[in-house]
Amino acid sequence: MSITKESELIGMQKISEVVATTLKLMREHTKIGMSTKELDEFGGEILKSYGAKSAPYETYGFPGYTCISVNKEAAHGIPSEKKILKEGDLVNIDVSAELNGFWSDNGGSFVLGKDIHNHQPLVDASKNILQKAINNIKGGVKIANIGYLIETEAKKSGFKVIKNLAGHGVGRSLHEEPENILNYRVRTNRERFKKNTTVAIETFISTNSTMAVELNDGWTLVGNKGGYVTQHEQTILVTDKTPIVLTGSNGIWS
Ligand code: CO
Ligand code: CO
Repeated sequence: MSITKESELIGMQKISEVVATTLKLMREHTKIGMSTKELDEFGGEILKSYGAKSAPYETYGFPGYTCISVNKEAAHGIPSEKKILKEGDLVNIDVSAELNGFWSDNGGSFVLGKDIHNHQPLVDASKNILQKAINNIKGGVKIANIGYLIETEAKKSGFKVIKNLAGHGVGRSLHEEPENILNYRVRTNRERFKKNTTVAIETFISTNSTMAVELNDGWTLVGNKGGYVTQHEQTILVTDKTPIVLTGSNGIWS
């Protein structure tokens, strides 16, 4: 959305703080032996305590308050009593919600406990690439150029990007214009980031796959060629300098 007055900025700051805090507390709460359902309910309670509504649950009828994707699940993992978290699991938590008509979105992948499967390089690449991408965004920058940066940095780190998942405008709804802030360059896309707009920037960095495909449950996405995918996401305010990261307190960069 385009921020045109103070009250809109405050609205976006508030919901961004709520989703960031929820993500942070959920990451801290994640324990070996816990089910992803238990973790999701913990997050759902935090959202409720702020009067915020889970975006996937409210908007899409997703069977959970947050998306929790474990190991081979790339995104939109359904919280389940049957999914028990183990040492070395690659876990992604994505929290998006609405408060007073404003929407915000953030997420991050991490390794639970000891990194016995060596997922950390993939996690670090995703984190660092998101940071670099955001630092290069300002009003007037081509969306395609940020896609190129993400793709190039992924290659440099020995990884690939998922081409059919993307960042997006956010604010008055969960997904709005610009709808496809892709992780690679589409040369024909002349769209540019606009000053004073709020967008969710997210990486999808992978070991093997370049496309995400849906499982029979109608939600869970996995890579088309297997392997692992990591995602990190922040909602930002585009300015004419370095963006303001509205969800910065989620701690996904620390
Ligand atoms: Co998200
Ligand atoms: Co998003």
